Amino acid sequence: MQVVPLGPGFAAELRGMSLADVAHDDAAYAAARAALEEHSVLVFRGQEITDDSQLDFTRRFGPPEVTKVGSLGTGTHFITLTTIGPDGKVVPPDHRYALRNKANQLWHTDSSFKRTPALASILSGRTIPKEGGETEFVSTRLAFERLDPARQQQCESSFVWHDYGHSRAQIAPGLASPEERAALPPVCWRMVWRNPVNGRGALFLASHAYAVEGMEPAAGKALIDELIAAATAPGASYVHQWKSGDVVMWDNRATMHRGRPWPAHEARLMVRTTVSATSADGLDSVRPPFPVAAE
Ligand SMILES: [Fe+2]
Repeated sequence: MQVVPLGPGFAAELRGMSLADVAHDDAAYAAARAALEEHSVLVFRGQEITDDSQLDFTRRFGPPEVTKVGSLGTGTHFITLTTIGPDGKVVPPDHRYALRNKANQLWHTDSSFKRTPALASILSGRTIPKEGGETEFVSTRLAFERLDPARQQQCESSFVWHDYGHSRAQIAPGLASPEERAALPPVCWRMVWRNPVNGRGALFLASHAYAVEGMEPAAGKALIDELIAAATAPGASYVHQWKSGDVVMWDNRATMHRGRPWPAHEARLMVRTTVSATSADGLDSVRPPFPVAAE
């Protein structure tokens, strides 16, 4: 296996290893897992992708998430992100599918709004537009390490509220349905997620983050905005240009990502699977020391 860094300072392509190798071979899994802990974003090229092969790969890293209400694939382990409507045609720009893609174009980390956040996401490109539609990543670990020590300390002792409805409301009022909002009440996590393998901290922030516990709402939001702006400053990102057969995996504890636009008339279909975080991934260390909501 060869690990080819993609930069800047994170993200790597794994060569000489397939999804099936990782799914079925302990040594391949150990190498991929170590690369994920180290590089935060992993790219596999030229894969033979099926739903089964993607799910077998996903399961090696932990329990696969069940897709929430209101997403295409609800109740399964797959989320389909598409602009192709049930009639086989590309949907108009004001269609719910298109607005969802627009919401994905805000900087975020997947599932921080859930009661169990995500260790990692796995995205496969099934129908790729000719131009645009890239996925852009930043390292919130490197962003944390760029802060001065006093700011680092402040972040590490802060807790952030995340709400799915908040990020969707930035795109269109009512984009999160009453059913989704009821299923996804706000949750709260420590602002810094320390990787239990290498001890490195990372900012755990997203478009879903809307308040800092104990801070005035405006001051908390200003702090979140300032940290996201610093994390996503020009030159800090890796932009993945999708090719057929690509699979990209990322560590939601240590990165943010966003989709990039593409010509509205072109179809794009991606399939995501997601691994829930567990105690072994440091989940207990990000839980707040105060009660959050009635379970
Ligand atoms: Fe995402």
